[in-house]
Amino acid sequence: MPLLLAELAAYGAPDGIQRLKDALAAHMSRNFGGFEFSPQHMICAAGCTPLLDMFAFCTCDDGDGIMLPTPYYPGFAIEVCYKTGAKLLPLHTAAPDFRVTAAGLRECYDNATKAGTRVRGLLLTNPTNPLGTTMNREELGAAIDFVREVGIHLLADEVYAQSVYGTAEGAEEFVSVSTLCKERGEPLGDQLHVMYGFSKDFCMSGIRAAVLYSENAALHGAMGNIGYFNCISHQTQHTLAGVLEKDGGAAIDGVLSTLRGDLRDQYTCFSAHLERLGIAYVPSCAGLFTCVNLRQYLEEDSWEGEVKLQQRVFEECKAVLTPGADCKMHEPGWFRCCWASIPQAGYDAFFARFEATFAAQGGGGG
Ligand SMILES: Cc1ncc(COP(=O)(O)O)c(C=O)c1O
Repeated sequence: MPLLLAELAAYGAPDGIQRLKDALAAHMSRNFGGFEFSPQHMICAAGCTPLLDMFAFCTCDDGDGIMLPTPYYPGFAIEVCYKTGAKLLPLHTAAPDFRVTAAGLRECYDNATKAGTRVRGLLLTNPTNPLGTTMNREELGAAIDFVREVGIHLLADEVYAQSVYGTAEGAEEFVSVSTLCKERGEPLGDQLHVMYGFSKDFCMSGIRAAVLYSENAALHGAMGNIGYFNCISHQTQHTLAGVLEKDGGAAIDGVLSTLRGDLRDQYTCFSAHLERLGIAYVPSCAGLFTCVNLRQYLEEDSWEGEVKLQQRVFEECKAVLTPGADCKMHEPGWFRCCWASIPQAGYDAFFARFEATFAAQGGGGG
């Protein structure tokens, strides 16, 4: 149906047009594990980045804290803190399984509170960035119980929800916070919020569009008030709604399934190189990256040594890796490798350079 110029050109609701909210509700209800998403609880904005900024602005005063498990996506330090004055409170997890526990949540909260920081929320990324893993029911259940007990928000960043490609064993699954609430017979209520966007699963990071799902009316009011700073153009919203609506959703579901297959192929190729070289890594099943442990190649076993290795890999192997320090990793030597958009011949070239560079150090051949 042709759109009227008036529909595109005039001001509209800053938190998104009804058509996009309806299409997102149908899409998420079909693909997020059974929760019935309602368009009325949606706040759309030009990406997860502005939604995080708005969320922190509306829930935190200067100096308030938001807990989040480590290692975390380095962009959060900008998105949550730069404009709002909020602080990130790292909840430390470590190799080999990097799991969030009830005891870890309590310790992080108590330490912050004792130091005089008012804790306002817990930010979970599931599937995780940088690990490329999924959180299990036990972790999510502990997080939900904890935020309900202490009365803080839980923001679940589920931007990689449909990039779970699994492994050969096929054991991993994505469990949305919304799904777990449904299974427990609980509403999301005022404290639990789910964020999703087009940047990752849809490979549309330049389009700038995302949604926060929240049943909290006060949060809606507050975020709606500042929505005009971050709204998506009507033209983009209609285009995205069209993508989601095509063939009743079957078209986009098919595309996402194909993309998951592509991710699986990429990961299989990348991890085969790691195995061949004897490089330790966290087996991943989701997202666009894998964390590898290059500690054996550090000239000195320190964070400075990590920076030097990052520089050497950049200069001699021609690859940009995210250092673990930026993600608040528990020890030096870990790097996030984004492998999703590199042709497989590119890996062959990179790993050949890597072997040549580090062979003298006893690495590169295991
Ligand atoms: C976990 C996570 N959240 C949010 C973002 C930002 O998303 P957007 O492009 O929608 O601003 C990223 C981008 O890398 C991300 O990895």
